[in-house]
Amino acid sequence: MTNSVSHSIPSLCDVYKDYFLIGAAVNQQTLQTEQNLIKKHFNSLTAENEMKFEHLQPAEGQFSFEYADKLVSFANDNGKKVRGHTLVWHNQTSDWLFTDSAGKTIDRETLLARMENHIGTVVRRYKEEVYCWDVVNEAVADHSQALLRDSNWLSIIGEDFIEKAFHFAHSANPEALLFYNDYNESDPDKSDKIFQLVCSLVEREVPIHGVGLQAHWNLYKPSYDEIRKAIEKYASLGLQLHITEMDVSAFEWNDRRTDLKEPLKEMLYLQAERYDQFFQIFREYKDHITSVTFWGVSDHYTWLNDFPVKGRRNWPFVLDHNGNPKPAFQRVCQVPGTSRIMSN
Ligand code: GLA
Repeated sequence: MTNSVSHSIPSLCDVYKDYFLIGAAVNQQTLQTEQNLIKKHFNSLTAENEMKFEHLQPAEGQFSFEYADKLVSFANDNGKKVRGHTLVWHNQTSDWLFTDSAGKTIDRETLLARMENHIGTVVRRYKEEVYCWDVVNEAVADHSQALLRDSNWLSIIGEDFIEKAFHFAHSANPEALLFYNDYNESDPDKSDKIFQLVCSLVEREVPIHGVGLQAHWNLYKPSYDEIRKAIEKYASLGLQLHITEMDVSAFEWNDRRTDLKEPLKEMLYLQAERYDQFFQIFREYKDHITSVTFWGVSDHYTWLNDFPVKGRRNWPFVLDHNGNPKPAFQRVCQVPGTSRIMSN
């Protein structure tokens, strides 16, 4: 079963063709169930999981490209770009990577060699098809005084694991645009840290071309002012900005409410207002923002169902469960100068 496509509504990526790419994270299921919506509304695709370390190299030297290849050929066949996600992360990374056959933690040189082999193999394989990569994901610490979060990468290699990853990716494909990607990217303290990290990479001439703002936002947070300040901070580095994982949850992160089977009218109204403001800000910074990706296609599937609160449904996108436009879709499409597209 594939979600039906309403022909009376505009295509999101057409509406935004003079601004930035409009992307969606997809997986093996949604590539089938949401196929028509994907074809119509998005010109950039990200693998929700299929290009993560544990999927691509589940055992040492045994690469498994089947699902990533499928996604890439779907993108190719349909004229979509592909954002690669992600090469170095503390999550969804195979356990074998950090230990030897006796289960003992490996040393820096061994981990660097494994990192280089993984990045080189993956980036070279998709040299023609993947135009940019989230090279390092979520390396900055959230609440501690430390700049970087604890991780096996950090404790075994040291702080330069980040720049090593960028150098390995760059030598595997000098044409690829290389990104640092993180969440809570608009939080004043965390955005200072992200800025500090990326700034130090730029100063040391590490091949980095962009900052990915994940944008897992909700109806109440972050504030428009925080978002604007974060964008300006990152843009001052002279790098491209991508919105990489956008969703606008109907709930604050820890809201325990689990009784709703459908979104309330007030939620849809507020969500439309939020999306409208967010996209106004994106348009305003279009000289810096070159891609906006949603972390899903429609409310038919989202990682936010049951997470982080078990039993809680969520409706974070601009297309509803059946692929129909929500009030947020209408507002996002109200772009100055696009009245002709709207009346199609
Ligand atoms: C992070 C990662 C994504 C994804 C989301 C949750 O933001 O970057 O790959 O795992 O968490 O779905």
